[in-house]
Amino acid sequence: MNYSALIQNRKSVREFADKKVSAAALAEIETYYQKSCQRLVPDLETKLCVFGEEAKEALEGAAGYESFLVGAPNYLVLLSAKGDQAGENAGFMMEDMVLKLTDMELGCCWITFTDSEKVKAALKIDSPLDVAAIVAFGQGLKTTKRLRVNILSMSNVDIAAQRQYFAPKHGLHDMVFMDTWGNTQGVDEYIGFYDDMLWEALYAATLSPSYLNRQPYGFIIHEGQITLVKAPDSYTDEIDAKLGLGIVLLHFSSTASQWAGKIKWSFGADAAKLQLPEGYEAVASCKL
Ligand SMILES: Cc1cc2nc3c(=O)[nH]c(=O)nc-3n(C[C@H](O)[C@H](O)[C@H](O)COP(=O)(O)O)c2cc1C
Repeated sequence: MNYSALIQNRKSVREFADKKVSAAALAEIETYYQKSCQRLVPDLETKLCVFGEEAKEALEGAAGYESFLVGAPNYLVLLSAKGDQAGENAGFMMEDMVLKLTDMELGCCWITFTDSEKVKAALKIDSPLDVAAIVAFGQGLKTTKRLRVNILSMSNVDIAAQRQYFAPKHGLHDMVFMDTWGNTQGVDEYIGFYDDMLWEALYAATLSPSYLNRQPYGFIIHEGQITLVKAPDSYTDEIDAKLGLGIVLLHFSSTASQWAGKIKWSFGADAAKLQLPEGYEAVASCKL
């Protein structure tokens, strides 16, 4: 897959054509998951379940932004064993599935949830694994209107609004720092410009989808290492925070690996060395 192009083209789709996803397409999704889906923690047991439109009713009240659940012909639910980085791994894997769906020209949207057991009960999932990630998908409705969700607050999310109001994504200079959090001096010299590979990987990271589009994270470049840092955010709970970190790692890694080979992350970098402000956490580092 051409990750850079897919990442730039992807956007959340919340309106779907009244058309079934073909059995062949569902089989292709399943095969991709089994054979190609990228993993952050390869040894962690996971399982992908596919549900039809009946899942919408079942999920009502168990998933989705407070005021509405995206109704779609199908839903992907990723189950995972518990373990270190299980949440980040789920974000990483499911975002790879999202980009596969994008590659197949299917539209999709991440769906938040807070209680694995509640979702399992609603969907009658009988498994010792936890619900780790949910995505709605189908044939996106072709529309000339630029439909984006209108996020004013958690309890005021409105899809019908055609007014183009949504929080913009963070730019590179809001997200990439040199040596200490917030310091942008020297970043441009280090990461180069549009045709530079590191720039491209970090740009891909800025396009990551996140819960309520909050993007509570950033990168610090220090002594040749790139460290992903989690920023505190009172809106984003632990599940969505970890999914978001996994998603941003997938965006960065899948783009960077096009020139640097497989990116190896080590988790829990030396936070003290980075002099992070209170409440910030070093998540993972890699050397390029
Ligand atoms: C973990 C996670 C949970 C999300 N939950 C929902 C949701 O329940 N409903 C929804 O409409 N969008 C949901 N989104 C989509 C975000 O609102 C969307 O990614 C963000 O607004 C950025 O827009 P974009 O995906 O078009 O780039 C979620 C995204 C993530 C990553």
